[in-house]
Amino acid sequence: MSYLALSKLHKSYGESLAVSNFNLNMEKGEFVSLLGPSGCGKTTTLRMLAGFIEPCQGHISLKGRTIYSKSENINVPPEKRKIGMVFQSYAVWPHMTVFANIAYPLRVQKINHPTIKARVLEALDLVHLAGLENRYPYQLSGGQQQRVAIARALVMEPEILLLDEPLSNLDAQLRQHMLHQIDEIRRHTGVTILYVTHDQKEAMALSDRIVLMNQGLTIQSGRPQELYERPATAFAANFLGRANLLPGWPRAIPRQGILTSQGFFLPVQSITGLEAGNENTVTFVVRPEDIRLEHPDGSSPSTPGCVVYRRYYASFIEYGVEINNTLLRVEAENGDRLEVGQSIGLIIRRAFVLPQEEDDIVQNRHFVQSPAGSAPAQHH
Ligand SMILES: Nc1ncnc2c1ncn2[C@@H]1O[C@H](COP(=O)(O)OP(=O)(O)O)[C@@H](O)[C@H]1O
Ligand SMILES: [Mg+2]
Repeated sequence: MSYLALSKLHKSYGESLAVSNFNLNMEKGEFVSLLGPSGCGKTTTLRMLAGFIEPCQGHISLKGRTIYSKSENINVPPEKRKIGMVFQSYAVWPHMTVFANIAYPLRVQKINHPTIKARVLEALDLVHLAGLENRYPYQLSGGQQQRVAIARALVMEPEILLLDEPLSNLDAQLRQHMLHQIDEIRRHTGVTILYVTHDQKEAMALSDRIVLMNQGLTIQSGRPQELYERPATAFAANFLGRANLLPGWPRAIPRQGILTSQGFFLPVQSITGLEAGNENTVTFVVRPEDIRLEHPDGSSPSTPGCVVYRRYYASFIEYGVEINNTLLRVEAENGDRLEVGQSIGLIIRRAFVLPQEEDDIVQNRHFVQSPAGSAPAQHH
């Protein structure tokens, strides 16, 4: 049995669907991220797990104990779930010192003072705030307040730590720093973490696994690399990074290339995910870093294109290259500089075929997930 099991969780507000048929199993010590755009149901899912929102249906167990079950009528209150949660807005108490903020969950449990003191100091150390225990939140930076909130969640030694977009209010440099600290906290404590973010870079850098959500639905879950290299839908391909999507026909494809719907042929060194016998239009995904640009010299089998824009990103340069009225995004190493208007040859190193269209997943889910007696929610 899994350490944490969320099964068939569902939450709607009136007609509007917030989270539909959410399933997740986690092992002890795992770091899983819920990733998706704003409004896709991430916070609702975390709050159902923490006990602040009651699901419409479903089942939750943690460490073998059922903490929520619609059918068995079990709903353990938040303070008895042994879950630590850090909210997006920090929610540290302004009238309490750092020490008092962090000590609060232990005071509630009526733990003796020497133990409280020792554990608060230990938590402060862990988040690198030692020495600041007598300050008030207004005397701290945003990043420090965030770390107080994390220390407060950790001090009761939760069975799982929930972090809701903990870095989204911080500036870019601090975000990077806090990302390292979260990783460090995890390594030092071994705590199981369920992390929420809309930022795919954060999710990929930190997680063992990612659950990608959209409009209350789970689109795909897996290891970061799996999601990046084998996205299940166009949404997944675009959300996990940049993607060129090229519709085309498998039946007309010689072994090493794509015949696009626009009627031009692109040689590709490797294509994965192509099903034999499929004669419908499929979508090929080409990552921008999988396209190589070469000066056409007539000897290589590259496709001629024209540079239409150039963007400098320090570690790479993004070029927009047009071929037959189709614009491809290319990330080139920061070497040879190409000019807008220049002709250039394209070589695609690899492409993969999307296994499913977005609509299939959404319709399929609605069919499966609509709770008895209620109409499926509309997403259009
Ligand atoms: N209390 C509420 N009443 C009505 N709708 C809500 C409520 N809370 C959230 N929602 C809706 O549920 C959806 C999911 O919200 P949320 O879980 O906060 O998304 P996320 O955290 O991914 O941005 C959104 O469409 C949001 O507007
Ligand atoms: Mg949210």
